[in-house]
Amino acid sequence: MAHPVLAVVSEAFPLVKTGGLADVAGALPLALAPEGFAVRTLLPGYPGVLARLEGAKPVVDWPDFFGGPARVVSGSAAGLDLLAIDAPHLYARTGGPYAGPDGIDWPDNGLRFAALAWAGAQVAQGAIAGWRPALVHAHDWQAGLVPAYLRFGGGPRVPSVVTVHNLAFQGQYPKALLAAFRLPPAAYGVDGVEYYDTIGFLKAGIALADRITTVSPRYALEIRTSEFGMGLDGLLRERASVLTGILNGIDTTEWDPAADPRIAAPFDAKRLAAREANRAALRQRMGLAAEPSAPLFGVVSRLTWQKGIDVLLDALPELLASGSQLAVVGTGDGALQNALLRAAQSNPGQVAAFIGFDESLAHLVQAGSDAILVPSRFEPCGLTQLCALRYGAIPVVSRVGGLADTVIDANEMALAAGTGNGMQFSPVTRDALALALARTLAVWRDREAWQRLQRQAMATDVGWQRPARHYAALYRSLIA
Ligand code: ADP
Ligand code: GLC
Repeated sequence: MAHPVLAVVSEAFPLVKTGGLADVAGALPLALAPEGFAVRTLLPGYPGVLARLEGAKPVVDWPDFFGGPARVVSGSAAGLDLLAIDAPHLYARTGGPYAGPDGIDWPDNGLRFAALAWAGAQVAQGAIAGWRPALVHAHDWQAGLVPAYLRFGGGPRVPSVVTVHNLAFQGQYPKALLAAFRLPPAAYGVDGVEYYDTIGFLKAGIALADRITTVSPRYALEIRTSEFGMGLDGLLRERASVLTGILNGIDTTEWDPAADPRIAAPFDAKRLAAREANRAALRQRMGLAAEPSAPLFGVVSRLTWQKGIDVLLDALPELLASGSQLAVVGTGDGALQNALLRAAQSNPGQVAAFIGFDESLAHLVQAGSDAILVPSRFEPCGLTQLCALRYGAIPVVSRVGGLADTVIDANEMALAAGTGNGMQFSPVTRDALALALARTLAVWRDREAWQRLQRQAMATDVGWQRPARHYAALYRSLIA
């Protein structure tokens, strides 16, 4: 008999996605099934989620749910066993999961995600007749309060895991909202939800969960330092004995160059020549000049400070001087978007930027680029470099977090030994990136060495099986 597990999360691919969190939430449950865990995923009932729920059936009624009525609806989609909170006053909005069409965060996000976590705790403690999970797994700040409701709300004890996907987003709200969030006064202490005189969602999760995980072993170490800890490093050092890093995988069915309907031509490590058609298609789609002999660099990213896009823009002159082309697909900060559009305008045919979220185009960038640039200042795990490995696009990454844990630098010895699968650089500066580009191009010009590197990249195990075994072991340690 499989152990029932409740996952609580604010996005899950393919129903709703703004980044890697959705990919993880959409894939991990499937990978855990063969390990003996039956995961049910609780999501806010955004319109896009409710519309895709198959076999929808109400299982819980809450007439007074944070300012309006709510039902929990169970159903399935994309192989996931889902619970959606149908609470129109909180989630029935056009726009993204966190912000309206104007990109501005919903003003009541504190309430919206306190409600998600409260519902998670209720369901964990048996609100659904006939279903009791053995543990609850809460993801990121949006579900960070789950352990707080479990600890301070009374009711049966349920083991909890909190996974930190990104310490940069912590969910901090005024302490005046404590009662509105249905947290008792006793919860507001240094050992509870209090965080620099506010309510800290992620802080609460880290303080109160039985186990804390993050998405790479290296990030699990980095976040205990003041350089990467974003104010939580002290608490993370205190809780180090229950903190571990488990690498993400990617869905290798969704990301399969040999059978990807979103790319121009299928290929695999034995048919690398077929990549050429994808390079051509990418150039054409992005409006880059038809120059098959020019190296083609790709970026698929949120456009934020974290991702080092400004550093890439600083190093652009070097990239251009080498005769390379650059294709960027991303969305995020207005200033970075504009800077990229300006760069494309000033370098027609050589630089192209698509501002927006486009899953299909992301696949084509991976299939058609020679190398994928990920110059992140910090990166908990990163999925784009894993997709790149799978698609034989050589990842050129900064040596931080999950990038350091997944990309093996193809230095001279690694190339000779056949172990490298990409390029690392450090620190995250224009000069270091420019040198990495030069080093990448030196290998690129040696076609045989480059193809060997591509094959090594494509042979890297980027699937979910190995990580899922780590999660399964962690789960078992909690329910034993
Ligand atoms: P993060 O979660 O920090 O944004 P990850 O690398 O973990 O970074 O995951 C990003 C995910 O989102 C990947 O699946 C990537 O392909 C996708 N992605 C990011 N930006 C875009 C975009 N503009 N269009 C399509 N997919 C995108
Ligand atoms: C976060 C991180 C990213 C990670 C993703 C999924 O968005 O920024 O590094 O891969 O979560 O865990």
